[in-house]
Formats: sequence, structure tokens, C-alpha cells
Amino acid sequence: MSTVNVGLVGIGNCTSSLVQGVEYYRDTDYPDCAGFAVRDVAFTAAFDVTPEKIGTDLSEAIWAAPNNAGAFARVPYLGVPVEEGILGEDFGDLAGARGGRTPDQVADVLRATGTHVVVSFLPVGHQRATELYARAALLAGCAFVNCMPAVLARDPEWAGRFERAGLPLVGDDLKSQFGSTLVHRALVDALTAGGVRLRNTYQLNAGGNMDFHAMRDPARMAGKKATKAQGMSAEGNVHVGAEYIPFLQDRKVAFIRLEGEAFGGTSLEIELRMCVEDSPSAAGNTLDAVRHARRAMLEGRAGVLDLGLMKA
Ligand SMILES: NC(=O)c1ccc[n+]([C@@H]2O[C@H](COP(=O)([O-])OP(=O)(O)OC[C@H]3O[C@@H](n4cnc5c(N)ncnc54)[C@H](O)[C@@H]3O)[C@@H](O)[C@H]2O)c1
Repeated sequence: MSTVNVGLVGIGNCTSSLVQGVEYYRDTDYPDCAGFAVRDVAFTAAFDVTPEKIGTDLSEAIWAAPNNAGAFARVPYLGVPVEEGILGEDFGDLAGARGGRTPDQVADVLRATGTHVVVSFLPVGHQRATELYARAALLAGCAFVNCMPAVLARDPEWAGRFERAGLPLVGDDLKSQFGSTLVHRALVDALTAGGVRLRNTYQLNAGGNMDFHAMRDPARMAGKKATKAQGMSAEGNVHVGAEYIPFLQDRKVAFIRLEGEAFGGTSLEIELRMCVEDSPSAAGNTLDAVRHARRAMLEGRAGVLDLGLMKA
């Protein structure tokens, strides 16, 4: 029986929810995906650059500050040490980070641990680091799932590299199980299907986790805006914003407004507020993405896999 051996890049909130989710659903009838049960998914490697996380077991690192994803499962000792990763960028919030590894060294770890699929949950804005880990995955013969907004699967050169290497690539930026982009898109689709002309729309998100902290930087927010706008596929004026509010912790509050022109030029407005736990919402689709990626490897399918799980 084959397994899905997963290497994790970025041991933050989303990874915490993913690791917890596998424990939570391990012995349940949670749906199989691509022929794999949840219990077939094993974590085999983990990389971060935070000194407090490096050297600890994955089961401990997921609870280390500044992670603040809620606890919904007991995670036993996993025997997966968090390894020092590769630093690709030089952001202020990385002061004190340790990331001296090269793609070759990361590839050595991936090979030695028998990892099949690398999942990236790097913070927004980490384009270069994403590319360096993708190179490590290629060197080690691993599939790559890019859960964050860096441009990888959308870049024909990277898509071609994975295709030529005979390896699957999934990306970019993960849809949540039930997130603001999904709701926004459903509303846009319903309006346009009914013949309403969308004039203006916004989606303002607020949250208190490190993802929202990183999005305070307009340059880093730009990537998130791009994938969200693509996910909405709305015409008219589209505005996407994010606000970091620490006391919200891992809760995400989204305010969505749509203004349209209905029959006879009459105006139509929709206002919606929704609140979700941000990180668990990302974990379910990741669990499916890694199982699809492994199945594609076993069946010799290479290049970008369109799973409908990604924003862009
Ligand atoms: N619902 C969701 O939360 C959701 C949905 C879709 C996409 N995403 C994306 O997933 C990504 C991860 O989100 P998160 O909330 O887990 O973020 P996070 O900030 O909690 O975790 C990121 C982790 O990456 C580590 N890191 C930073 N640089 C690194 C490097 N060079 N190598 C290895 N590790 C490094 C950090 O130390 C941290 O542990 C974000 O880009 C986010 O936009 C999240």
C-alpha cells in the first residue's frame, strides 16, 4: 500500500491545522481522495527559519509562538524534526531567522526521508524562497503544492520544469474550504447569471494571525490581491483589502459589498459579513491536494494539475 509522504515548508498556522487535521480524521470515515485515506498521509520532513521551531519535533513546533491557530486535535510525538530551511527574502519580520540551507541540502533531506510531495505554506511575498524550495523538490524528485500566492504554477517556465522532470505541480494559492473568495465569487456569479451588471465590489478582510501581519506590507499584499481578484473573476471596480487586528487571533472577518445595475438601470446592493477560523479552513483542501499530487506521480502525470482547489 503506498503512502503520501509530505514535506512541509513553513510550520505556521496552516501547517498546524493540517497536522492536527490528519490526527483528527485519522480513524474516521473522512472521505478518501485519489484513492488515499487520511491515514495514508504521513509527514516526513519539515522546514522553517524560526530558531524556536528549528530542532523541535513537528508536533511541538506547531504550537510555538507566533502561531495562534486553534487546537482541535491532540498531536502525538511525530519523530519529524523541524530542519533549518532556505531564506529567500529579507523581510523585517525575519530578523534573527536561520535559513542558511541550499536547495541541494534541502533536496538531500527530502530524499533521505522518502518525501513524495512538498507543501509550501510560506508567508505571503516569499517569491524567491518559493522558487528555491521548488528547485529542491525538483532535485529530489518530489511533487510541489504551492498553497500561497507566489507565482509558480502560473509561470510557464516553472510549469515546464516540472513537466520535463515528470513531476506534478499544484498552485497557486489555496482556496479555503469556505472562505471569503468563494462566497464573493458565488455572489458575483449569481448576479451576472441573472443579468445584473457589476459596477463596484470590495472584499475587506481582518484577522490577527501572522498572515495578516505580513499583509500590512503593500508589496507583499499585492500577490494576495492578484490571486483573490483572479479567484473572484469579477468585472467592474474590484477592491481587496486586509487589516491586521491582533485580538482577532486566527479568526478572519470578511466584509463584502457588491454594487450592480439591474433591469432598467436600477441599482442593487449586497452587504455581507462572515467570520471563519482562518487556518483550519485551508487544511482540508491541502489534504486533498497532496493526495491528488501523489496519485498523479504514481500514474506518471506531470506538470500543472488543475484540481479546482486553487485561487489562481
Ligand atoms: N485560510 C488560510 O489561512 C490560507 C488560505 C490560502 C492560502 N494561505 C496562505 O498560506 C500561507 C501560510 O499561512 P500561515 O497562516 O500558515 O502563515 P504563518 O505566518 O503562520 O506561517 C508561515 C511560516 O513560514 C515560516 N517561514 C518564513 N520564511 C521561511 C522560509 N524561508 N523557509 C521556511 N519557513 C519559513 C515562518 O517562520 C512561519 O512559521 C500564507 O502565504 C497564506 O497567504 C492561507
